[in-house]
This record gives sequence, C-alpha cells and structure tokens, in this order.
Amino acid sequence: MNVSASHKVTMKISVMGTGYVGLVSGTCLAERGHLVTCIDIRSEVVQEINAGRPPIHEIGLANLLRSVCDKGMLSATTDAKTAILDSDVTLICVGTPTVDGRMDMSQIVAAAKEVGSALASKRGYHVVAVKSTVLPGTTEGPVKAAIESHSGKKVGDGWGLCMNPEFLREGRAVEDFRVPDRIVVGATDSLTAEVFLKVYADFTCPKLVTTPRTAEMIKYVSNSLLATMISFSNEIGNMCSAVPGVDARLVWKGVHLDRRLTPINGQVGGAAGVTEYLWHGLGFGGSCFPKDVAALRSFGRTVGEQTRMLDAVLDINADQPLRMVALLEKELNLAGKTVAVLGLAFKPGTDDLRESPALPLVAELRKKGAKVLAHDPIAMPHAKKRPEFRDVVFAEDWAEALRKSDACCLVTAWPEYRNIQPTDFSKLMTSALVIDGRGVFEPASMAAAGVVWRGVGFTPVST
Ligand SMILES: NC(=O)c1ccc[n+]([C@@H]2O[C@H](COP(=O)([O-])OP(=O)(O)OC[C@H]3O[C@@H](n4cnc5c(N)ncnc54)[C@H](O)[C@@H]3O)[C@@H](O)[C@H]2O)c1
Repeated sequence: MNVSASHKVTMKISVMGTGYVGLVSGTCLAERGHLVTCIDIRSEVVQEINAGRPPIHEIGLANLLRSVCDKGMLSATTDAKTAILDSDVTLICVGTPTVDGRMDMSQIVAAAKEVGSALASKRGYHVVAVKSTVLPGTTEGPVKAAIESHSGKKVGDGWGLCMNPEFLREGRAVEDFRVPDRIVVGATDSLTAEVFLKVYADFTCPKLVTTPRTAEMIKYVSNSLLATMISFSNEIGNMCSAVPGVDARLVWKGVHLDRRLTPINGQVGGAAGVTEYLWHGLGFGGSCFPKDVAALRSFGRTVGEQTRMLDAVLDINADQPLRMVALLEKELNLAGKTVAVLGLAFKPGTDDLRESPALPLVAELRKKGAKVLAHDPIAMPHAKKRPEFRDVVFAEDWAEALRKSDACCLVTAWPEYRNIQPTDFSKLMTSALVIDGRGVFEPASMAAAGVVWRGVGFTPVST
C-alpha cells in the first residue's frame, strides 16, 4: 500500500554499522534534522567520524559529515547500549556477506543481541529497523529471536520491528539517499510502520508498506534484476563479437532507443537509467550484486525452487574478466611483460574493491607471468593493503602506468580515464596495445592514432 507522507518529526536515531549504508544513512538523516548517533565496533572508524572525516569515499559525504558534526547533529561511539537507550529508533546497517554462497548472519545476529540487551532497560517505545540486506524470514526469525531473548520482551511489548531495505548505489550514495526512488518498510505491525515512517516524514518519494518478508525480497529482486541485465548484456556482447560485421555498440544504441527505455520526442527525460545496465563489459562486482545473487540462489534452493537463471547470471559474470586476458594473449605473450591495469575499484565513484573484476584479472595476469602496474584515482590506499595485490606495483598516475607498460587493460571507467586521448596512448607507450573492458574508447580514433585497441565483447573474434 502507498502511504502518504506525514508531517516532519525530528527523532533520535542510533545507527549500528558505519559502512557505506550506515554512515551515509546517518549523515543524510542528520542533515534532515534527526539527532543521529552512529555505532561501530571499530574504534578507529568512530574516531575518524567524530573528527568529521568519513572513512569511506562517497561523493559529497566529507562536506556533509563535517557540517552535521559541526552542528552537533551526528556523533559516533562504540558504546552501543548508551546510544540505543538514548534514541527512539535503531537502524541495523551491519554487513551481511555471503560465505560459501550463503548469507552469513553473524554480524546481524550479534547486532540484534546488542539491541536486545539495551532494550531490556529501555523505557518508552523503540523501533528497530533492519537496513542490512537480509533474506526473507531473517527479520522475523533470527533478528526478532535475538532481540526478544536478550531484552526479555516480546515484539510489540514496548518495541516494534521492521525491515527497511536500502537501495543506494555506491558512488552516488549521498545523492541516492537524499532523493530516493522509493522507501520500503516491512513492518510487523501498523504502530511500528507509523512510528518508523516519521524517520522519512519529509521524503516525498513513494512509500510502500509491506510485511518484513516482502520487504526483504524486494531488495534481492531489485539487485538480481540489475545483475541479470548485466549478465544478459555480456552474453549478447560476447555473441556479437563472434559475428563479423556486428557492432555491439550500435546494437546497444539501437536497443536503448526502444520507447520503453528511451521516451520518444515530446516526452520528458532521456534514456532510462536502466540502460546503463544494458551494455557489456567486465561484469558486475562490488559488495552487493555478487553476494546478493548468490544468497538469493541458495535461498531459492532452500525453498525447493531451481534457480537456473540466477545460476547463469553468476556463471557468465565469473568468466567475463578472463576474456580480457584472452584478448590480450592474442596480441602478446604475457610472460615477463608489464601490463598497466587502469582502475581497481569495482566501478567509478567508489573506493570499494569488494568483488571487483580487477581481482580475478590481476590474479590471471600474474598466473600468466605478467607484471602488473596498477593505478586507481581513489582505491589505491585500500588496494595496497589487500593480499591479492601484494605483487602489484602501483603507479603515481595513469601516464606513469602507460609509460612503463607493454599493454594496458582498462577496468574501471573513471572519468579521468575516459578523458585519455588516443594520442596519449601512442605517445606514452612504446607499442600501444589497449584492452578496453568497458567499451569506453572509440575504435576508429584509436586506430587512427596507431593504437591497437581491443574491446571485451566489442572486438570480433576473428580480429
Ligand atoms: N554498500 C552498498 O552499496 C549497499 C547498498 C544497499 C544495501 N547494502 C547492504 O547494507 C549492509 C551494510 O553494507 P555496507 O556496504 O555498508 O557494509 P560495510 O561492510 O561497509 O559496513 C558494515 C559496518 O558494520 C560494522 N559492524 C559490524 N558489526 C557491528 C556491530 N555489532 N555493531 C556496530 N557495528 C558493527 C563494521 O565494523 C562495518 O563498519 C549489507 O547488508 C549490504 O548488503 C549495501
């Protein structure tokens, strides 16, 4: 059901977990006039936040965090109990990684136990909202059980429980949280929904109130749909490159012009945002799509359903980065050669390396005996700490990476890489060979500048 926005009420909100979701949610809710306390078990992260410095990279977050900290609207602590007791609502935003293809509930259950312990001595009504992505049944199952057993209070006895999935996109998280496309609240009862919706009282987007299980499912279906579009695009791109004379770029342009994807003249707006997912490349990565599709697949099996589509989505995705190495090997014996890897983050705008296509790519290049010289405008400090990049040398800038390499793999379509001119490649590289994992460069201009250009899914196999 759609619920109309009620009037704005400023609330006290505690947020457990200060990763991409928790910190962005907390900061943006503080901007809206709520008094926010962020909780994390990592004291170094808490210190950074209290100093007004975000420990993660998100456009616009640093200024906003400083501003709400300066106004006294947001602070951070490791003391969960005090923060929860001194708030009306607790958002649980801890991680739910997938381990061996299944959702790992350890962080969410630990957080729920802490909430329960605090609620044992709470006076006044309190709402607990699960914002982490969790499989259907988790909120009303393990989360509710942990809170009830640690508080000694049944749900409805002074506290309410709901599931409020988060749809922000990393790299655009602040913008997405400020202007959401939807707010979904899966509540166990109507009082919980009514109180919790006050958190979003002055957000004007559609608000959908459901059961907790439906809300949990909406999040998985949303992510799996987008991941499916990417794997579909990759399968099609790979097929296009097997057919001489088919230009995959124009195939996508032609598909995007469908009036259901791009409204025709006279209607507002250009191409729908979803067309970004109908373009092939190295596949999806990040902290959400791979783990959420894998978790939904294993969930499907637990309810006795086959997941042939989701199986294919993951299989296609796993192969895609390796196609880059196959293209490279057609041009170059990799043993002893240096390959510039431009971009390590799983997509532009973020410093997140989780499940980035750069990880299997670097591993495969190393396996083939190549040396890797990597660059990323934002993610290098994180990359330097990861064991997967232990043998990698990092370049100061893309120009240095090109100058010292025999070939270049473009992994992440950062704006600064999009702006590299074809002549930059030919001037900086002794023998300019570029494998374009994102379909960023114009083949004709690259050829005119003397660059050997190959695009994953764009280059005919016969080339
Ligand atoms: N990253 C995204 O773009 C995104 C988008 C939508 C939904 N989600 C979902 O939101 C959840 C969080 O994702 P994230 O990327 O922000 O995770 P993250 O790993 O970046 O952050 C999780 C944080 O929780 C902290 N934490 C763990 N246990 C805690 C506890 N008991 N008390 C306090 N803090 C604790 C960790 O120290 C860490 O800082 C996941 O379920 C994810 O699937 C993520």
